Amino acid sequence: MKHFLKISDLSSEEVLSLINLGIKLKEGQKKGKSQTQMLNGKVLGMIFSKSSTRTRVSFEVGMTQLGGTSIFLNQNDIQLNRGESIADTARVLSRYLDIIMIRTFKQSDVEELAKNATIPVINGLTDYCHPTQALADLMTVKENFNDFKNVKICYCGDGNNVANSLIVASLKCGCKISLACPKGYYPNAEVLEWAKQNGGVEIFNDPKEAVKGAQVVYTDVWASMGQEAESEARKKIFMDYQVNESLMALADKNAIVLHCLPAHKEEEISHETFEKHQKVIFDQSENRMHMHKAIMVELLDA
Ligand code: CP
Ligand code: NVA
Repeated sequence: MKHFLKISDLSSEEVLSLINLGIKLKEGQKKGKSQTQMLNGKVLGMIFSKSSTRTRVSFEVGMTQLGGTSIFLNQNDIQLNRGESIADTARVLSRYLDIIMIRTFKQSDVEELAKNATIPVINGLTDYCHPTQALADLMTVKENFNDFKNVKICYCGDGNNVANSLIVASLKCGCKISLACPKGYYPNAEVLEWAKQNGGVEIFNDPKEAVKGAQVVYTDVWASMGQEAESEARKKIFMDYQVNESLMALADKNAIVLHCLPAHKEEEISHETFEKHQKVIFDQSENRMHMHKAIMVELLDA
């Protein structure tokens, strides 16, 4: 693995092995074992063109736990914002850093950065996908069910970046996946085509149909970063897609709820359902850090 740009670049074996490494690193950290020799002295640069709480903090803390350091680069503060090309930025940063994480809008910008960098590049979210999130999500599924076989994941809401990565990661792990999305808000067409060839995904317009028998019910915001102007219109379109107790009654009786966070309570998820499942949701958040550590260790071949 040279870069970490999207889940479909990885084989099933690579996905499963990263999840196992994430679990192993988590266990080691909980036991208080020092991990500072793993990436001792390595430097991570983190370019952000969008807001972040979890991704930023978990990458930074994760790198510190592995013995390295990190530098936060707000896109507004670097010359990229004044027209320096992505290719030149990649070539310069490759001379200073050991690894780059980038969160931005266009997937093609992340691909361009990776093409021109001589160090590994990690996609920390684009409009197209959120691959580090999906691996932490599947790690959380494994923690709760021990295995992926016979697990059905139902994603309810906007067919966005989180949904695109979740579909691919779920199928790579051997889970079944269904989605409930309004017409016009389906996941990316290429992702759906990929899914068709790789195990299949069921898409419903009715959440009650999609959620039947699901062991995992997943949701995300209805308006992603960059779509703020559509927020009010989307609230009306997605109104019937809220994950709440009446929807959960149709899922498996031991179903867990996942949310990548941040959550908009009483929109995509009811307050009650969120609080009922908060333990697993915050485990999922914590797992971002363990998974980021696994991805960095794997990319830096430590
Ligand atoms: N889930 C996630 O990526 O959170 P942040 O936007 O806070 O990084
Ligand atoms: N779909 C959301 C995910 C945030 C982590 C967004 O892109 O804003």
